[in-house]
Amino acid sequence: MATSSLSLLLISAGIISVLLQAASASKTRHFKWEVGYIYASPDCNEKILIGINGQFPGPTIRAKAGDTIHVELKNTLHTEGVVIHWHGIRQFGTPWADGTASISQCAIDPEETFVYRFRVEKAGTYFYHGHYGMQRAAGLYGSLIVDAADGEAEPFRYDGEFNLLLSDWYHQSIYDQTVGLSSKPFRWIGEPQTLLINGRGQYNCSLAAHLIEGSNTCETTSKDCAPVVLRVLPNKTYRLRIASTTSLSSLNLAIGNHKMVVVEADGNHVEPFMVDDIDIYSGESYSVLLTTDQNPSSNYWLSIGVRGRKPKTSPALAIVNYSPNSPSKLPESSPPIAPEWNDYNHSKSFSYRILARRGAPKPPQSADRRIVLLNTQNKIDGYTKWSINNISLALPPTPYLGSMRYRLKNAFDAGTPPENFPSSYDVMKPPTNPNSTQSSNAYVIRFNSTVDVILQNANALAVNVSEIHPWHLHGHDFWVVGYGDGRFDEKDVARFNLKNPPLRNTVVIFPYGWTAIRFVADNPGVWAFHCHIEPHLHMGMGVIFAEGVEHVGKIPKEALVCGMTGKMLMHNHLP
Ligand code: C2O
Ligand code: CU
Repeated sequence: MATSSLSLLLISAGIISVLLQAASASKTRHFKWEVGYIYASPDCNEKILIGINGQFPGPTIRAKAGDTIHVELKNTLHTEGVVIHWHGIRQFGTPWADGTASISQCAIDPEETFVYRFRVEKAGTYFYHGHYGMQRAAGLYGSLIVDAADGEAEPFRYDGEFNLLLSDWYHQSIYDQTVGLSSKPFRWIGEPQTLLINGRGQYNCSLAAHLIEGSNTCETTSKDCAPVVLRVLPNKTYRLRIASTTSLSSLNLAIGNHKMVVVEADGNHVEPFMVDDIDIYSGESYSVLLTTDQNPSSNYWLSIGVRGRKPKTSPALAIVNYSPNSPSKLPESSPPIAPEWNDYNHSKSFSYRILARRGAPKPPQSADRRIVLLNTQNKIDGYTKWSINNISLALPPTPYLGSMRYRLKNAFDAGTPPENFPSSYDVMKPPTNPNSTQSSNAYVIRFNSTVDVILQNANALAVNVSEIHPWHLHGHDFWVVGYGDGRFDEKDVARFNLKNPPLRNTVVIFPYGWTAIRFVADNPGVWAFHCHIEPHLHMGMGVIFAEGVEHVGKIPKEALVCGMTGKMLMHNHLP
């Protein structure tokens, strides 16, 4: 009797301490970062890139759902501003921390510091990156991983995890690239030299051939470019977190002899499904479960190849190293080969299989507004651009968030951009009149309304060319309610999946196809919606959504120090 009541007491003490822990569990996690130029050899070739605290990729942020992230960011770039966007984090109540130059804040000037402070509310695989000019492509990125809050669990089990941040790498500097893209005649950036896994790759060297033939072409003195090794134990399940921050490339990832089970997409749980390989577009993230159930005396290749563009870049390789084999033991089977670059049916069947996990929130069954966005390649005064409903996005000098919040006149182009495109437009042909205009106008969306956006792909300037574009929405997740080939038609609405559409923050439009998304405009702020291909965004491929700006709280003045809000601050004219 005495012992049992004692143990009862202990148990209840245990419960109380668990409760106390839960109450105090969410933390503020502090980071002090300096963004600066560094020498690094991501693909065994030394270059100057943009790193954080001397590191490339930048430090991984790891937090728990409910935590507050506090990053004190100092710009030590000397000659250019900087901002960092937290891709996939919705920034409820903190739209000024979204890190988009000209949209949510002024670029942080050299030697200045800006504090990003925001909550991460949802477990998942995210990342961060520069969002000013083409700084992302200069290496300014890193991982942001959010674990379930204490006492909560994600709906799948695993014994260990690996993080794979994928990117592509150019030897030409982003300054060369930027000038080329805005030159007449146009100079395209071309295909990347190297694909990187966690910032490491091997230029002009087939790692497999190197290891097999012992050739010297891949010899390097730099450990910056050593291949990534995933050290695993037999008969375990591992979570691979995979995110893509590529500048241009769409990728395919596969592991020799192994299948994978997809469980997460962009920080949302999906109904698990098994695949041999996954396609991943810039701006997307996935978690897959890998079970190490193959012959443990061998190692295996993990291989990443290019999709959607004729590849001129060798696949990136990593080694799945079954313990206790040596990591340098050559896999017996050759690296998996990506599907043909233009096998879009393969890509579509993968995308179509991504559905919300049972029990996930369903979308509103109807929308209040539909915005159709035609994606075209155009000319403006002989310059090559991308346009949306014939408008190529040109960002204003005063960030929208401040100018809209304080109702400043003439800070950006007035008027609502078009909600649709002419019914006579043939999406299967190059534009008959390729000329387009530039504008900074924005779509103002009624707060808390439900919006459908139809992303309509079309033929580019050259005949028989239509490309993949991964579109990313800031400040929200959206439901992907439908895909189709050719031109979107009113009757397609009846086919929308309103039962179990996946929630995502990035979705692709396939060549000559359309993709329909639905979201609720419940996050006061000004949000970019754009193609995540860095040169495409630079060429104007994006739009601006503003919602509930009157509900935005007090914007930190460090976000307002440029343009018209900057002048007003100087004269004490801002509240
Ligand atoms: Cu990861 Cu606006 O982008
Ligand atoms: Cu694009």
